[in-house]
Amino acid sequence: KRVAIMISGGGSNMLALLEDMARPDHPAAPCLVLSNDPGAAGIARASARGVATDAVSHKPFGKDRAAFEAELTARLEAANPDIICLAGFMRVLTEGFVTRWQGRMLNIHPSLLPKYRGLHTHARALEAGEAEHGCSVHEVTPELDDGPILGQARVPVRAGDTAEALAARVLGQEHRLYPAVLRRFAAGDRRPVWLDFDGRHEAP
Ligand code: GRF
Repeated sequence: KRVAIMISGGGSNMLALLEDMARPDHPAAPCLVLSNDPGAAGIARASARGVATDAVSHKPFGKDRAAFEAELTARLEAANPDIICLAGFMRVLTEGFVTRWQGRMLNIHPSLLPKYRGLHTHARALEAGEAEHGCSVHEVTPELDDGPILGQARVPVRAGDTAEALAARVLGQEHRLYPAVLRRFAAGDRRPVWLDFDGRHEAP
């Protein structure tokens, strides 16, 4: 299976996926890392691992999302992926784009969906006094952060946690969850992945 990964920034989730796909028993291999920011640090990290990269800045397109996404689709179709992984991709995608790739596009979101869709999930979870938080991998559908859940990892909220501390704890679990879900998804196995907290795995 060919996997394209879409990023906007550092790409730590992308790196976790690339590292897992580098193992010989993995049913998939990366065919492209695509960013909406040509300066994204993840681009250099992917290139350093020999993975093809591309970037389409959304800025020149202004409010014309469709034109921006048409360019993304052209780059993706050239790479001919079987699966697209959104990994820290920070642009909302229109129904047209999502429909084009639906059933083959995954996203990781830093909350235990359906709780805390959208942004600032860690601060909101702290504000609500949650005892637990975590991350979810889901199939992308036109509704934001709403598709079928393919896996979740839980973390404890600790007394005195700042949003940054909680985000780092969640990010460490994202790096476990996303590779585990991609392996199953690429193998055609739709059983969800439920991970309990593993404190040894902190974000790099
Ligand atoms: C992080 O906030 C992560 O929770 C979310 O996207 C952001 C950047 O992730 N998935 P990455 O380091 O670029 O993968």
